[in-house]
Amino acid sequence: MKINWDFIGNEKIISEAEYKKIEAIQEIMNKEKSMLGWKDVDVMISSLEVEEIWNLSKMVRNACDVFIVIGVGGSYLGSKAIIDALRPYFSKSTPEIIFAGHQLSSEYLSNLLEYIEGKRVFLNVISKSGKTLEPTIAFQKLYTYLKKHDLEYMKHVVVTTDSESGFLSTFAKKEGLKVLNIPREVGGRFSVLSAAGLFPISVFGVDIKALLQGARSMEGCFFEAAQYAIVRKHMEDSLKFVEAYTFYEEKLSSFAAWLQQLFAETQGKNKKGILPIINPNTTNLHSIGQYFQEGRDILFETVLRVEKTKDLFLEEYSQTMHQINQIVLEQVAYAHVEGNTPSIIVTIDSLTPMELGKLIYFFEMSAAIGGYLLDVDPFNQPGVDAYKKLVNQELKKL
Ligand code: PA5
Repeated sequence: MKINWDFIGNEKIISEAEYKKIEAIQEIMNKEKSMLGWKDVDVMISSLEVEEIWNLSKMVRNACDVFIVIGVGGSYLGSKAIIDALRPYFSKSTPEIIFAGHQLSSEYLSNLLEYIEGKRVFLNVISKSGKTLEPTIAFQKLYTYLKKHDLEYMKHVVVTTDSESGFLSTFAKKEGLKVLNIPREVGGRFSVLSAAGLFPISVFGVDIKALLQGARSMEGCFFEAAQYAIVRKHMEDSLKFVEAYTFYEEKLSSFAAWLQQLFAETQGKNKKGILPIINPNTTNLHSIGQYFQEGRDILFETVLRVEKTKDLFLEEYSQTMHQINQIVLEQVAYAHVEGNTPSIIVTIDSLTPMELGKLIYFFEMSAAIGGYLLDVDPFNQPGVDAYKKLVNQELKKL
């Protein structure tokens, strides 16, 4: 993983005071344990758990046609990010992986219930709190379906939750369902490398050990991640309130969605933080690219660049298609900086579990540091809880 800072001007320079603040943050992060469980990859998930997940996923792969991942927010965005980044564009995986419980579309759930008719189904419901509305509704419907259609339904459900508390954990114990644990000290958006993300990723067939190894190899990235956090802080201080997660490989679309949640939920509080948006290029160069070039000066970009991909030689250009994609990426960075939209370019070698593991760890570390830099609690989400409270009040009235 390499970062190119050439397109941001002087924003990389760290002042003495900022350096002191970063050191203080490092001290806090070394001392504080609560909600920092993701920092030590081997504490978040033991090798025994990894083995268990891997063996279970091998069994599941052969036992179903459709594997349904039920979860919302941090309980599904991470696994979707990795699966989509590694999924070939046009081939059907076996089992087919379907996400549910990430919205409240009754049309979606009805269609899904029709679609799985006659198929061998496996459910993985993921919820740290065990009480979130969307996955609860989807799970109730799908579990009832399974109970009705599958004599061995108990063997075809895995519940991923905080195994020590919550409704879902109690329910799983009562029903005799298999439970995988999300550690207490790991919040939803930091949980992709716990059982929450690893089990579905493993069912998809990804080498989860390589993914973890990539993350582990970044455990010493504190200062690099702090540099990224400082640059983002400088952007915010100069009124660049919108950050585009830009990518030129469409497979990274869900990864950008994961980043969006990670940074928005970690830092967007107390009237502070940057609004992250998802920016697929070159597609968007023909739409909101206009705004990036000539609109208000509120934008900057973090560009995810993939060095090597499957490639095609284009005789007409005497170049490969990927080379042309890279030329566009670079020229857009030049053009946008002229239009006062700076970019930070983060390059990975290729789309592999190892490289994605590195990115995950780096961005998690940087999001947390950035939260401390803004003097907000990086690990709560009172804004998310605010609307939930109102919805629950309304539902209670019914
Ligand atoms: O990052 C977070 O904490 C949230 O996005 C949660 O992941 C999301 O609200 C889902 O919560 P839960 O896993 O408790 O169902």
